[in-house]
Amino acid sequence: MSKLVAVCGATGNQGGGVVAALQRLGGCTIRALTRNPDSVSSKKLAGPGVELVKADFEDPASLDAAFKGADAVFGVTDFWRACGGDAEREKKQGTNLVDAAKCQGVKHFVWSSLEDTRPVLAATRKPLQGTYTVPHFDAKHDIEEYARQQLGDAVTAVYPSVFMENLLPGAGMDPTKQPDGSIALFLPVGQSTLAWCATPDIGAVAAAVIKAGPGEWGGKTVGVAGEHATVQQVAETFSRAFGKKVAAVTPSADDWVQAVQGFGVPKSMAEDLGNMFLFYDTVPMTGLRPLDQTQALHPGAQGLEAFLTAHKDKYAQLFA
Ligand SMILES: NC(=O)c1ccc[n+]([C@@H]2O[C@H](COP(=O)([O-])OP(=O)(O)OC[C@H]3O[C@@H](n4cnc5c(N)ncnc54)[C@H](OP(=O)(O)O)[C@@H]3O)[C@@H](O)[C@H]2O)c1
Repeated sequence: MSKLVAVCGATGNQGGGVVAALQRLGGCTIRALTRNPDSVSSKKLAGPGVELVKADFEDPASLDAAFKGADAVFGVTDFWRACGGDAEREKKQGTNLVDAAKCQGVKHFVWSSLEDTRPVLAATRKPLQGTYTVPHFDAKHDIEEYARQQLGDAVTAVYPSVFMENLLPGAGMDPTKQPDGSIALFLPVGQSTLAWCATPDIGAVAAAVIKAGPGEWGGKTVGVAGEHATVQQVAETFSRAFGKKVAAVTPSADDWVQAVQGFGVPKSMAEDLGNMFLFYDTVPMTGLRPLDQTQALHPGAQGLEAFLTAHKDKYAQLFA
């Protein structure tokens, strides 16, 4: 039977991936939420089986209308741009999504979540934005807890890894040319293994979970990862993919926070991300984002070398 799926953030990375994957899987009608159905990215989504719906996470009535009759909702919030890096604003948006899903009797709420970093970091790091340690993680986790209180076993939490897209030129975690002409990745995680995912693969995993339904996935958590790699291994993958040496420079988190502010990253963002890297350096991410779980749901999940090769043209200037 065809499912009606309301997809938040449909014009963005994760939601766009959900729409594309649901279209590939078939058997669903998609309601794609956007604040602006006339935007270029909205128009790209239009097509058979996709209905564009104007909705705003800060306008509960628009969410009620968008979720009406939906069997499933994919929920995601945009901490950095749309919420301006404000954890309380992200929580308000996320709880609005949960409230609308409850009000409309949605049977499966698939939430793009992240860990609560406070139990790991609060003893050693000063609080950020009041009571958080990594605000963009903790806020999503608080929304997940609220969703589980309100919707019980209708909730599945999908946990993305570090986006491989962060490694694209200009995206913030990309390798850069040094004054001596060498190329280096500058990230504050020394020995620990990070989990990485390409954003279309988050969509593909979430779509597979939606397709299987709450009977199989309700009440559970799914990690998404295409590869596990240390910063050194990522640098080696760059070197292999582009035939040029890329070095890994791994300062302490505090030194990294200082340094990136010098490159123009706002203090609040640098501190949030610095704590995130400390969290990644403390908690074994490989266990939280098992590769076999992603592969079982989405056998085509990309590894780092495949991702870099697919985006090779974007690095032409750096490796010229
Ligand atoms: N970078 C990483 O490594 C990483 C890892 C894990 C999690 N994350 C999280 O990923 C999230 C961003 O996800 P993404 O990359 O998929 O987002 P994205 O590509 O930046 O897109 C944001 C989407 O949210 C929609 N949106 C924003 N504000 C809205 C509002 N008020 N009402 C309705 N729709 C709204 C936008 O739709 P319209 O503009 O069309 O309205 C757009 O589709 C962030 O919260 C970040 O913390 C990032």
